[in-house]
Amino acid sequence: MTASAALPIPPTLDIHLSRAALADALQSDARCGLTSSPKQLPPVYFYDDRGSRLFDEITKLPEYYPTRSERWILDAHAKDMALISGADTLIELGAGTCEKSRVLLDAMQACGNLTRYVPLDVSDTVLWEAANALAGEYPGLAVNAVVGDFHRHLDRLPAGGRRLVAFLGGTIGNLGPEQRRRFLVDLDCVMDAEDRFLVGTDLVKDRDRLVRAYDDDAGVTAAFNKNVLNVLNRELAADFDPACFEHVARWNEEEQRIEMWLQSTTEQSVRVDGLDIDLSFDEGEAMMTEISTKFTPEGLEAELAGCGFVVEATWTSPGDEFLMTLCHPYC
Ligand code: SAH
Ligand code: TRP
Repeated sequence: MTASAALPIPPTLDIHLSRAALADALQSDARCGLTSSPKQLPPVYFYDDRGSRLFDEITKLPEYYPTRSERWILDAHAKDMALISGADTLIELGAGTCEKSRVLLDAMQACGNLTRYVPLDVSDTVLWEAANALAGEYPGLAVNAVVGDFHRHLDRLPAGGRRLVAFLGGTIGNLGPEQRRRFLVDLDCVMDAEDRFLVGTDLVKDRDRLVRAYDDDAGVTAAFNKNVLNVLNRELAADFDPACFEHVARWNEEEQRIEMWLQSTTEQSVRVDGLDIDLSFDEGEAMMTEISTKFTPEGLEAELAGCGFVVEATWTSPGDEFLMTLCHPYC
């Protein structure tokens, strides 16, 4: 008689951020951002259902190399990551469609340790779809999905086991320096000595290559950027006309980051009923919607060290385009 194959375990969903709470956060963030100068918006609101699907399209664009570069590193080295970390639980922050997670899950399974996968994201629909797909593909794996904000809910991550916390896609670069520091310090606080942190970061490179990755010929990134206006229209009863804004991606040399802006093509006013405010835009006035910081390996290591992490191993993709760093808390 052969041993019976493990059965799929139905996934669970913990909701620490309800749609109502997300709507409240949008309201206060938008009030603050839209009334500051220059106007700006936090990036978390890009990822409604349409935004998440557009991001998925971005990852397949010829100009958008980061996903392919990170995927290359994972294909080549996930086994080492699984071995060094010795983890049985994979926690993934900002997991999205969990596409790249499969490579890590396969490697952890091959090491014989894998028991649990905990994807965390603000985008509940995409997360739940991915959790169900993964539970079906990995019989015996407990998939505990968490709807939450990685700025606020790290202390809610399930404890127990040896955990590998992955933060992929260069998402850490979407945080500003102070926000990054707070995130890393918070993460350090909730990690045990045996836990490991795996972070993917895009590296500084030729300016044109960087800008093209955020301003593709097919206009998908432009549609993604403008989608945030649809989110504001829907959630805050605003009347932004996306056709009156242009997508702009520019390299900020001083801050070493790509900045995404929406630039008003005309002088216009916009009513935001949900906030009871009227905004005015000058012709050419731009609103900042996203940053994507680019790193050097030394700079990142220093930043991690300043927040309590020791680097254990690093891997780069061909041409030194992208970096993955495995580290652990001091102690
Ligand atoms: N990890 C995937 C997706 C990256 S896109 C990849 O590497 O391709 C960034 C993801 O982070 C999106 O799914 C978005 O919904 C999520 N996200 C953005 N801000 C977040 C926040 N504050 N808390 C939790 N998830 C967040
Ligand atoms: N984490 C991704 C990055 O920094 C997010 C991203 C890619 C993005 N393209 C974008 C965000 C366009 C806003 C607009 O590369």
